[in-house]
Amino acid sequence: MADAIGNKAAKDYHLDVAAPDQGFFAKGLGNTDWGMKNRLSRIFSPKSGNTVMLAFDHGYIMGSTAGLERLDVSIAPLCEYADVLMGTRGALRSCIPPTLNKAVCLRATHDSSVLFEDMSQGCGLGVDMEEALRMNASALAIQCFVGGAGERDSLEVLCRAADAGYRYGVPVMGVTAVGKEMERTPKYFLLATRILAELGASMVKTYFCEDFEKVVAACPVPIVIAGGKKLPEAEALTMAYRAIQSGARGVDMGRNIFQSDCPVAMCKAVAKVVHQGFTDKEAYEFYLSEKN
Ligand code: 5RP
Repeated sequence: MADAIGNKAAKDYHLDVAAPDQGFFAKGLGNTDWGMKNRLSRIFSPKSGNTVMLAFDHGYIMGSTAGLERLDVSIAPLCEYADVLMGTRGALRSCIPPTLNKAVCLRATHDSSVLFEDMSQGCGLGVDMEEALRMNASALAIQCFVGGAGERDSLEVLCRAADAGYRYGVPVMGVTAVGKEMERTPKYFLLATRILAELGASMVKTYFCEDFEKVVAACPVPIVIAGGKKLPEAEALTMAYRAIQSGARGVDMGRNIFQSDCPVAMCKAVAKVVHQGFTDKEAYEFYLSEKN
């Protein structure tokens, strides 16, 4: 095993060298099977290469978060403006019409609830592959606690989900969870995203940070950014813009959309940045014009 101490610091991310073209539009995923590529093409637009995922899985650890008190009222009407629905099987089955025909990134782990001081204790697989296929999932989301108390358990869950995913052609999205005591630095996200990709994640969800282009360069599969706590709309659009400029292939955004003053306008504005090359300022002007 490689030593953990005394290594030369990584520094050359070859930012001017494009990742190899493997004959498929999504980075690092050219050597996967047809079914996997078909599902990836429902997650990421083959035209822009990017995705807008609407995250409303919060209830699986937080219960009824602000804005998600009634998923049928707040989320169902929003779904048509996103590319991918990221939710639990319970939320999807009970509140989201299957006729919307949107790709699903199924929240597939169970984790410690907000009642626990340390939420990074780990998790288990909450959905098996048969059920994921029954839900017509285009991807599974697995929470991973690199550096947290639950590192070992959550990475084991990721590896087993990736095994099943490769067997059935379902990509796994590794999610870099940040617990209370865990770092939120570029160094941390460089480490965590790379670990998840190397262990079999076909895409990685992580937080935007400084030097994000290095995080993207060092991760061999597509990265989407997490939204995080609610920001003013202009700031959230700037974060999305900077992430896309740094090479992120999309967003997986929840509170910054569904807690917005105008969730539909915000979701559409985010999509302008992600798919149509709008700057943050253009997208914010668009948001204001849609809102009024
Ligand atoms: C945390 C998650 C969340 O459950 C959720 O998707 C977060 O969404 P947001 O922070 O944009 O409200 O995946 O890692």
